[in-house]
Amino acid sequence: MKFEFRWPIAIAAVLALALLAGVALAATGAQFVQVRRGLFGEMSGALKHAADRWQDPTAYGEVAQSARVIQRDARDLLKLFPKGTSASDGLRTAALDSIWSERPGFDRLANQLADEAGGLATITETTPSRDVHRQLAAMVATCKACHRDYRAQ
Ligand code: HEC
Repeated sequence: MKFEFRWPIAIAAVLALALLAGVALAATGAQFVQVRRGLFGEMSGALKHAADRWQDPTAYGEVAQSARVIQRDARDLLKLFPKGTSASDGLRTAALDSIWSERPGFDRLANQLADEAGGLATITETTPSRDVHRQLAAMVATCKACHRDYRAQ
């Protein structure tokens, strides 16, 4: 009856695994929050860098470079809000549950930001300043729209 004796061991092993999986999941969730907050910080820095230079055509190469950073980050955003990384999951995050209940709108705004940044990334010294300003203003509006609907104030 060796088999019967093994059952408690098997159950204990399954329980230990479940516990470990739970811990691993919690760590991963917190890491997602950490990574996406870092990414938002980088995007803010890049946006500020670009906004400070919209009147200076000799700096449009730098502005375009900042725009490429924002474009890449905006695309990465799509992967940084998996299920299990909300405040309801016990994590310290400003992400609202609407991200998971109204996902298409969230993804659309992230893609919109990536497209707008992609447009700004193509400017040259001959691009009229008012166009650069308009593109920057559109991006800022997209940041704000997403925060209004998907981020706790
Ligand atoms: C698609 C939605 C979306 C877009 C677009 C977006 N954000 Fe956010 N942003 C969020 C969410 C959600 C959070 C909260 C993240 C968290 O706490 O997990 C956030 C957080 C932040 C934070 C705080 C980071 C921290 O350290 O807690 C900053 C700064 C920020 N965003 C700046 C920006 C800027 C600048 C832009 C535009 C260039 C932008 N965001 C575009 C959704 C968005």
